[in-house]
Amino acid sequence: MFIVEGCGEKAFAPLSLTADGKALSELDSNEEWLNAALGGGASLPGRLKVNCRVTTRIRGIRVLSSGQRSVEYEAYASNDEKVLIKALRRHEPDNAEHLVLDYLTEKNFRWSPQLLCSVLFDGAPYLLITKFIEGLPAATEYVSSSFTRSVESTKALGSNIGKTLVDLHATLLECDAAWCRPEPISENDIRSWLRRLSWRAAWLREKAPHMLPSHDRALLSEAADSLEELAGDLEPLAERLMGTPKMRIHGDLHLYQVMKDSNDNVYFIDFGGEPYKTPASRLEKEPAVRDLAALARSLDYAGMMGEQLRTGGSLLQVTSWPPEDLLTWESETFKVILDSYVSEANSRGLGNLYDGIGALFFWLVERASYEAVYEIAARTGYHYVPLNALLRYRDGNDRLVSLIRSLA
Ligand SMILES: Nc1ncnc2c1ncn2[C@@H]1O[C@H](COP(=O)(O)OP(=O)(O)OP(=O)(O)O)[C@@H](O)[C@H]1O
Ligand SMILES: [Mg+2]
Repeated sequence: MFIVEGCGEKAFAPLSLTADGKALSELDSNEEWLNAALGGGASLPGRLKVNCRVTTRIRGIRVLSSGQRSVEYEAYASNDEKVLIKALRRHEPDNAEHLVLDYLTEKNFRWSPQLLCSVLFDGAPYLLITKFIEGLPAATEYVSSSFTRSVESTKALGSNIGKTLVDLHATLLECDAAWCRPEPISENDIRSWLRRLSWRAAWLREKAPHMLPSHDRALLSEAADSLEELAGDLEPLAERLMGTPKMRIHGDLHLYQVMKDSNDNVYFIDFGGEPYKTPASRLEKEPAVRDLAALARSLDYAGMMGEQLRTGGSLLQVTSWPPEDLLTWESETFKVILDSYVSEANSRGLGNLYDGIGALFFWLVERASYEAVYEIAARTGYHYVPLNALLRYRDGNDRLVSLIRSLA
């Protein structure tokens, strides 16, 4: 069995019976099968498309992490280099991660995984083999920093994130293929982005109540009201994006996808876009400032996680009544990233990257609305973070929002 279909989705199920016939094993964890696949001998005629920069043999495969959407293996390539194999488990033709990684690798962009091989199955990425990045997610530092409310402890990291993000955007801005070429934002784009908000508000009202316990219903309905109200208010702000560039961006830039090594270098990983990007496609181009909004939202998650550790409270408790100094911490840590981004873009003559900065609040709400749908649909238990953020954004009692609104 290699591919299964159901519930409107296709999933990779690369399974085979073990030699004793008693169990199933995942083919891509098997050295022999994997090397045969890379060499074009995986007995899946015409369906696998292998593209390797150099002939690569893989050995020493070990599972690193395994989730609903992918399995990550660490392994070694022929030259003893440590590599990461991302084996996707969903067949998603609108996932352009192989294209982005290939482009960035060609451009010698240093702060993303260097692509060694990609394997597509029926036109969608199935295996991505990249150089291994030794580091830890930036999120862990922000969670500890929120715990102690120390802005100082993440200043160097935040400043590096801002600078490296300009480097990423500057590289993507030069991309000239149809899937990545920057284009001016049209009235239609703005309408469709605004429609995301009303679509998600309706989803929170109609679909989400069946997916959460009944005690969450009041919060859901208030979040849906907030989102609808915000959607109306944000129209003029979104209109300001008209004519500014939309481009290929990271698209799902939260702090667990920002890695930091021991020399304080920052790397961005996982260019697969947002897994539940409805009602939109992951191939849509968007303005660079949306990645900044994603980081701002991620700081809210980090802040709330730090607060949970500090108080021992539940996620519902800490997100419902966040103390003022926590919201100040969120706003100040974001300001470090934002200031560094703007000054780096300016010094490189790339002011057009933050042309859309006046609409940052729109993207903050748009991203929170995405998160609300994602956390509920994926049943992560984190839905309280974006739902309560939407309430604060509507009521205007959020420091980060004051900061962001002052840019408009
Ligand atoms: N090049 C790399 N070097 C080292 N570790 C990596 C690399 N790429 C991914 N990882 C590790 O694998 C994990 C999952 O990778 P990634 O985010 O790309 O997959 P995913 O399917 O989107 O998973 P998730 O849904 O958890 O985000 C990362 O959090 C990181 O720990
Ligand atoms: Mg990821």
